[in-house]
Amino acid sequence: MAADPLHRRFRRCVRAVNRFVYDRIEERLAGGGDYDDILSSLIRSYGDDAPMMKRELRDQVVTLFFAGFETTGTALAWTWLLLSENPDAQHAIHEEVDRVLAAGRPGTTTSSRSATPGRSSRSRCACTRRSTA
Ligand code: HEM
Repeated sequence: MAADPLHRRFRRCVRAVNRFVYDRIEERLAGGGDYDDILSSLIRSYGDDAPMMKRELRDQVVTLFFAGFETTGTALAWTWLLLSENPDAQHAIHEEVDRVLAAGRPGTTTSSRSATPGRSSRSRCACTRRSTA
């Protein structure tokens, strides 16, 4: 039975996502550098099996991307709306951000490596230390 147009469109989108993710995986496996990010961490954790585990690596990356994208966007959209309606809370959060980040932007990792181009080693803020303790 022929797939309907919506199904065909869905499969085209899946192919586009797969192409993008598999290309990134191939680049890394071909020696494209050891970045301080989730893909390099996954490849390291698979070790010598990584070249055989491309499908699983793809699944992990796609899951993290889709699980983390809309959830975070939605949470932030509601956060900004609620803050805009609560000036006291808005003031408090601005004050906290200024205080906690006075030393600069937080790092994204506890690792001492900082191989991602453009990233420098930054001091971590109190909330990052708490969540990674
Ligand atoms: C405010 C942001 C987020 C919210 C509200 C949220 C919410 C949730 C909830 C409720 C679940 C459990 C779903 C269930 O078991 O039925 C879940 C699971 C999960 N989330 Fe999030 N999430 C957020 C951000 C993220 C981010 C940033 C990532 C990754 C980059 C992520 C990755 C995952 C994964 C991989 C699971 C599945 C865990 C498992 O069952 O093994 N989430 N999330």
